[in-house]
Amino acid sequence: MNLFSALEKAYTTEHLSARDAQRLAEFIAFGPIVFQVSRLMIRFGILDMLRDSDNGMTREEIASRTKLSDYAVKILTDASLTIGTILVDTETDRFSLSKTGWFLLTDPATRVNIDFNHDVNYMGLFNLEEALVNGKPEGLKYFGEWPTIYEGLSKLPLQVQKSWFGFDHFYSDSSFGEALKIVFSLPVDNLLDVGGNTGRWALQCVSHNKDVRVTILDLPQQIQLMRNQTAGIEGSERIDGYGINLLDNSAQFPTDKHYDAIWMSQFLDCFGEDEIVGILSRAAHIMSRSSRLYIMETLWDRQKYEPAAFCLTQISVYFTALANGNSKMYHSDDMFRLVEKAGLRVETVYDGLGQGHSIIQCRKN
Ligand SMILES: C[S@@+](CC[C@H](N)C(=O)[O-])C[C@H]1O[C@@H](n2cnc3c(N)ncnc32)[C@H](O)[C@@H]1O
Repeated sequence: MNLFSALEKAYTTEHLSARDAQRLAEFIAFGPIVFQVSRLMIRFGILDMLRDSDNGMTREEIASRTKLSDYAVKILTDASLTIGTILVDTETDRFSLSKTGWFLLTDPATRVNIDFNHDVNYMGLFNLEEALVNGKPEGLKYFGEWPTIYEGLSKLPLQVQKSWFGFDHFYSDSSFGEALKIVFSLPVDNLLDVGGNTGRWALQCVSHNKDVRVTILDLPQQIQLMRNQTAGIEGSERIDGYGINLLDNSAQFPTDKHYDAIWMSQFLDCFGEDEIVGILSRAAHIMSRSSRLYIMETLWDRQKYEPAAFCLTQISVYFTALANGNSKMYHSDDMFRLVEKAGLRVETVYDGLGQGHSIIQCRKN
C-alpha cells in the first residue's frame, strides 16, 4: 500500500505507550459520550466563555452564565476535564480551555465535522452493522425511504441539510481557487461539471473566465436547487443544467457540444467501484484526444497530515451507513485503477489543494 510519508510514519509502526494505548481504547469505548459532551460544551457556549475569560471560570460562574443547573455543569466539566478539552486550577477551582478545547472550538474543519456527525450521521450510524452486511445505507431510514441520500438531499430536514451542505461546501470551496488555475491553464470554451450540486464551482468558473459556458450534470432535483441558488448572479446565464441519474448506465453524457474539460469534484466518492467505471466510461465516450477530465478528490493516502487521513477514512463510514452503502473516500491506487479500466489514462496528479484535495488530470487513451 502506498502512503504519503506522514501516514507511513503513523501507520506502519506502533508508537503508543501501553498506558496511552489503554486510554485510547477507553476513548473509543466511550466515543459517543465524549462526542456529545464535547459538542454540548460548544453548544452551551461554555468553551467560548472559557476562552474569553482572563482568569478562567468557576462552576458557579458557568452555571449562572449558561442558566444550566449546578448538576448539569458538573456533569459536563467533570467529563470534559477527563476528555482533555478543559483544565482546572486546583487552588482556585477555576476552569480554563486546554489546547484540545481550543482546536475543538476554533478549527473550522472540526466544527464542520461535529455538525455533520451530529445532524447527519449520529442516528444512522446505529445501523452500520446492517449497512456493512447488506451493502445498503440502512441508516438513511431515519430521514426517508430513498435508495441513496442524494435523491433525498432536497427533502432532508433543514438542520440536516444545513450540516450536509456546510460539510460538502467547506471541503470543496477551499480548493476551488487553486483548481481554477489548473483547469483554466489550457483553453476551456465548454466545461461539463458532473455532480455540480448547487452550482458553486460553476459560478466560480463563469466569474473567472468571461467566455466559458458550464453545463451542470446532476440529479433533476439538484438542478432545481442549483437554479434557485444561482438565479440573478452575474454569469449564471452561462450556466446550463442537465438533469440525469448517472446510476442508470443507459443515461448518456450530453453530446450537444464539445466539452474541453469534464470536472468531477467530490463526485466519484459517491459511487461504488463498478459504478465509477460505468460513469468514467460514459465520460470517455464523449471525450476527444484534446479533452481533459479532472477528478478532484480527497484521497486518503495522499494527505500531508495524519489527522486528515483519519477524518477521511471515518467519513467513508458515512457513505456506508447513510449515503449509499457502497462508496468511500478512495485510496489513489484504487482510483487510478478505475480510471484505466474506463479507457482513460492519468496524465498528471496535483496534490495538496485546500483541505487536502488532489486533482487527477486524465486523457482519453
Ligand atoms: C458530494 S456532492 C459534490 C458536489 C460538488 N461537486 C462539490 O464539489 O462540492 C455529490 C453530487 O453528486 C450528485 N449525484 C449523486 N448521485 C448522483 C447520480 N446518481 N446522478 C447524478 N448526480 C448524482 C449529488 O446530487 C451531488 O450534487
